[in-house]
Amino acid sequence: MEVSFLKKAGLSECVPAPSGEGKKNSLSPDEAGYVRDVLFERARCRAQEHFGNRIYVRGLIEISNICRQNCRYCGIRAGNALAERYRLSPEQILECCEHGHGLGFRTFVLQGGEDAWFTDERLADLLRRIKSAWPDCAVTLSVGERSLASYSLLRKAGADRFLLRHETADPVHYAKLHPAAQSWQNRMNCLRSLKACGYQTGAGFMVGSPWQTTDCLVEDLLFLRNFQPEMVGIGPFIPHAQTPFAGFPSGSVERTLVMVAMTRLLLPFSMLPATTALGTAAGDGRERGILAGANVLMPNLSPREARARYRLYNNKLSEGAECADNIRELRKRIQAIGYEIVVDRGDFKSC
Ligand code: 5AD
Repeated sequence: MEVSFLKKAGLSECVPAPSGEGKKNSLSPDEAGYVRDVLFERARCRAQEHFGNRIYVRGLIEISNICRQNCRYCGIRAGNALAERYRLSPEQILECCEHGHGLGFRTFVLQGGEDAWFTDERLADLLRRIKSAWPDCAVTLSVGERSLASYSLLRKAGADRFLLRHETADPVHYAKLHPAAQSWQNRMNCLRSLKACGYQTGAGFMVGSPWQTTDCLVEDLLFLRNFQPEMVGIGPFIPHAQTPFAGFPSGSVERTLVMVAMTRLLLPFSMLPATTALGTAAGDGRERGILAGANVLMPNLSPREARARYRLYNNKLSEGAECADNIRELRKRIQAIGYEIVVDRGDFKSC
């Protein structure tokens, strides 16, 4: 991690110069380790100032792995003929909510590929049913790129939040990760539309995706500072065997944690999950995410058969503490590092 990288992102004031002067552009491994530990500590303290030791949970329901898009990194891309496709019925989704509510979840995240079966009408109907059955709950959608009219209709039908990672703030890099039909400009327009509709909006990116440079990550931080999303999902890239990126290495866990910590310092009030990809890349990834400033966990509420098929990357966790049914195990693990999982919608608050 170079000092120039921190300076460019306007974060040098958050990290002490290791050798007093702060004029050097590269650090020895020991110095870099020290700077990282200080960064994590500052990010953790910043999170504690706003959230105390409270960790918010969201129940993730993977509603469909059918997708019209062809993101080169993603295991459920349209071009993966080997993916076993499924779609949950509205009744199955409502059962997941019912079950999740009993387990203490007060936010449901409906996430899926861009599946044309989920028309505005069908999603709106589903949202109304969820909100009338569990009026104490927030609903987050994560169903990809749609029109402004569609986002607006779904918001009016009761969706509170929307997750749409920007994936990379560098348009040239974006074009390397996606086919020509998917444009960076459209992704940015969608994010702006979501904010305009009044959603608590989530952006985010992978760390270590093919052709990502340090400059790309600086652009990601600058984008976040400018866009001010309420939520930011950050996880390491992990290759999927049936994608064009099968042969690329995974992103670094350490670098992912650095990005989580910097995001916490840039956006002190933001909702930052310790992501499933982080938990997949390292057994203690969730805990390390929290200790670097994350304050959200998203256990999986999907039926077991669906969980196994919603495979965005190799070895994606869906059992153990990742599974919502095992929230007691997760609670214990989180308590062991001094935090508490709470029963709460966990809305964004800017003070
Ligand atoms: N590795 C890590 N994250 C991935 N995602 C998709 N494919 C991968 C992968 N191979 C992330 C993307 C997407 C989110 C739902 O999952 O950032 O927005």
